[in-house]
Amino acid sequence: MNFDYISESVNFIKNKINFKPEVGIILGSGLGNLAEQVENKVIIKYSEVPNLPTSTVKGHAGQFVFGKFKGKNIMMMQGRFHYYEGYDMRNLSLPVYIMKYLGVENLIVTNAAGGVNTEFYPGDLMLIKDHINFAFSNPLIGKNDELVGPRFPDMSTAYSRQLIALAKKTASRLNIKIVEGTYFMMTGPSYETPAEIKMIRHLGGDAVGMSTVPEVIAARHCGLQVLGISCITNMAAGILDKPLNHEEVIETSLKVKDKFILLVSNIIESIG
Ligand code: HPA
Repeated sequence: MNFDYISESVNFIKNKINFKPEVGIILGSGLGNLAEQVENKVIIKYSEVPNLPTSTVKGHAGQFVFGKFKGKNIMMMQGRFHYYEGYDMRNLSLPVYIMKYLGVENLIVTNAAGGVNTEFYPGDLMLIKDHINFAFSNPLIGKNDELVGPRFPDMSTAYSRQLIALAKKTASRLNIKIVEGTYFMMTGPSYETPAEIKMIRHLGGDAVGMSTVPEVIAARHCGLQVLGISCITNMAAGILDKPLNHEEVIETSLKVKDKFILLVSNIIESIG
């Protein structure tokens, strides 16, 4: 990602807001309601921002929400870009670089995911400890701008241990059940076959989804601290004897939203 290219988008946004966001949050399918609680909101549609693609998925609004939340200056992505929409991983990770150059230090990424670990239940929240990139692409492919980040960024602690510890402490204080695991990215948009889910389990995946990995790679590239939370919206294919559908995913995330908002808002309150 090229610094001048990022700057075009950043300068456009800087002219519309008069504060520096410290925490960035990417809201996954059905989790967009968190944005309703932001005070002194400034909304900027992705379609207005130079260089950004436009989001197309149902349940995704497609806008940045800036404002105050729990006493912190934040910026949220209500809706994100997905690889399966046909975007290049480079383009779909641009919002993360925009966050970085607006001043964000900590990034909370959330998503809806299928439970691969059979000890999980729909409605569980999973802290992402690590991920497996099975999309076989990478947002950093192409020319690297050393101003933005290194050619070969370290991914050994992609998900911040400190933020995981903070999330666990917060969940336990609020009496919210939380599980932990590895997020496994498939491109989608078809859901997985039962055989693929068996494979994913053998390879060490606990939850499967179609997002997050490109954004986290970009975030680590430019030095953001990342906390990842998956909402387990359904058991992955073949675990229960029933078909999967997007409506179920949205329905479960809506059921979980109060618990999710409580957890995330308390984490934001105590973040560095
Ligand atoms: N598979 C992939 N992505 C998902 C799923 C799933 O089962 N549930 C929500 N997002």
